[in-house]
Amino acid sequence: MADTPKTTFSRRGFLKGAGVTAATTVIESANALARETKEALHADRTLGPDALPVKLHINGHEHSVTIEPRYTLAETLRDNLGLTGTKVVCDRGSCSACTVWIDNTPALACMTLAIDTVGRQITTIEGLSHGDTMHQVQAAFVKHDAMQCGFCTPGMVMSCAALLERNPNPNLDDVKHAISGNLCRCGTYPKVFAATLDVAQQRNQATTLVAIATERVA
Ligand code: FES
Ligand code: FES
Repeated sequence: MADTPKTTFSRRGFLKGAGVTAATTVIESANALARETKEALHADRTLGPDALPVKLHINGHEHSVTIEPRYTLAETLRDNLGLTGTKVVCDRGSCSACTVWIDNTPALACMTLAIDTVGRQITTIEGLSHGDTMHQVQAAFVKHDAMQCGFCTPGMVMSCAALLERNPNPNLDDVKHAISGNLCRCGTYPKVFAATLDVAQQRNQATTLVAIATERVA
């Protein structure tokens, strides 16, 4: 008789299986990331439970950090590297407050193990601005007063900025869809929509002006 497969429960399994919510797409990409990285990095050995040194590429810099394999990216960013701009609210894939970019794709840092991001490019809210100059989306959030308590705001900004990277001319429905997993308990959604559409308009106007100027010079 065939052996009955053992049922195991691990944090990795939980992280990969939990949180089937509005953020499902983001979670699916995190799961794919975990699978790929496992194959590439440590398919032939068991990691942990002790801490191990890894290098993470965050906001254009390499960071050496010693972490246990069970640490999430959110924990590592905040607790080990002091990058507290990434917020943790639900810690279970339901609210998208912890949204960062992994290889320019939005991902939930609370649902991603830090070791699965070795070799990837991670961008956090701290990496969007250039020194004291805010990213256009950050500036638009200020202009439109698109925040109250601010807990959801970094994740919102990361989702909206990612949308504008992949679609420079979004409509209102596109913005709603892009932040459908980002929960704001303070109800700032209309201002988030306005801020994002404002940036799109600014960029399109700038592109048009450049095109006109180029045509005149030619
Ligand atoms: S989804 Fe990560 S903190 Fe809520
Ligand atoms: S501003 Fe408070 S949760 Fe969004």
